[in-house]
Amino acid sequence: MRFQTERPTSWQACLACGNELAETDPHSRCPSCGGLLELQHRPPDLTREELLGRFTERRGRDPGTPISGVWRFREIVLPAARQIVSHPEGNTPLLHRDALDRWTGMHRLLLKHEGHNPTGSFKDRGMTVGVTQAVRVRATAVACASTGNTSASLAAYASQAGLPALVMVPAAGVALGKLAQSLAYGARTLLIRGDFDDCLRLVEEASAKLGVYLLNSINPFRLEGQKTIVLELLEQLSWTPPDWIVLPAGNLGNTAAFGKALREAYAWGLIPRMPRLAAVQAAGAAPFAQSFAEGFARRHRVKAETVATAIRIGDPASYERAVRAIRETDGVVLAVEDREILEAKAAVDGCGVGCEPASAASVAGVRQLVKRGVLAPEEHAVAVLTGHILKDPEILVRYHRETEPAPAGANRPIEIEADLREVEKALKQQRET
Ligand code: F0G
Repeated sequence: MRFQTERPTSWQACLACGNELAETDPHSRCPSCGGLLELQHRPPDLTREELLGRFTERRGRDPGTPISGVWRFREIVLPAARQIVSHPEGNTPLLHRDALDRWTGMHRLLLKHEGHNPTGSFKDRGMTVGVTQAVRVRATAVACASTGNTSASLAAYASQAGLPALVMVPAAGVALGKLAQSLAYGARTLLIRGDFDDCLRLVEEASAKLGVYLLNSINPFRLEGQKTIVLELLEQLSWTPPDWIVLPAGNLGNTAAFGKALREAYAWGLIPRMPRLAAVQAAGAAPFAQSFAEGFARRHRVKAETVATAIRIGDPASYERAVRAIRETDGVVLAVEDREILEAKAAVDGCGVGCEPASAASVAGVRQLVKRGVLAPEEHAVAVLTGHILKDPEILVRYHRETEPAPAGANRPIEIEADLREVEKALKQQRET
């Protein structure tokens, strides 16, 4: 057929025979001749200038320069920086999924997805500032200890800046995607026979003795960049603060950065009140939660163990800063079991959002806080997803393909012959489950 009257906004056309189909027609090829279909659009009722103006306006105010979701906030990050090393990064989405409201018991839970950063985690926000500062102080090399994401990010930004990078990660327990990134971006990668806490001790010694610029989150410039997670989410909410911001906590750099961002945003009059922070640790790596339970009477150190390798940390470096953040925001610290983390991850993954295990701790934390009555369902909460689903592919394969008996959310792949009847059988099985 051909549209006779005024054309709709969009339609499908067969390039082979000219047949036209509605935009919503489900055929995968032209039903008349089997040719390939193409979508066509009626030009909008705008002048060229109006149309291009709209594109530019949406992209940002500074045509020609890619916008960074960190350096947009430069007045509150590092105003004096000039030679900026930016990918760019930030500008991550604030998402909502009904399925996660149901899972957590919240009326409307928002997710700030930091996995959408260039190397797949929030670390890029700190690293653009950290590496910019390394260049400013004329560092000749940069280094970090890491559970994997910091090292992936450092490797990428150092290579962009043309700086040699040294990273130290635990020989056992770095997720595959993260290790692969460090190698691919060209960092000298040391697999340390020890845990993250050993790596951090060693890299601090090495940077002092060998004159290498240290880019762990004890570096304050990193935290300035990470503050923009909070600034950006406040901006996305038109500067109406949520009641809660919930985040996973390991080395406590991010908890410290969030507290500082809120303190400054409040002091600068950007927000009328402070949201409460909820820092979520894995139960097997929860020294901060232990201290919180005792009113921060003393600092704890533990031997850390959890499936969420990103937060497998027993002696968090930013302890004091994080205590201040929790106190000033009337915050809470809690611990969730590995089982809860994996369930939360299956829920986040299963609704098409996806995140790495440590990130799911924040969603597991929301559910626990709702159950305990600390968080009321009608309150406004934002949970931060800190890393991308593909950071840790091994845990996914194990969960979906290998765990016996299959966990409730397991999605077993089905191997079949290239035969239509077998496809039909598999489809039928799926409909029945
Ligand atoms: N989520 C992810 C995905 C992380 O990689 C980390 C920390 C955290 C949460 C916790 O943040 O340490 O500031 O409390 N990863 C560090 C690393 C330790 O080396 O990549 P934190």
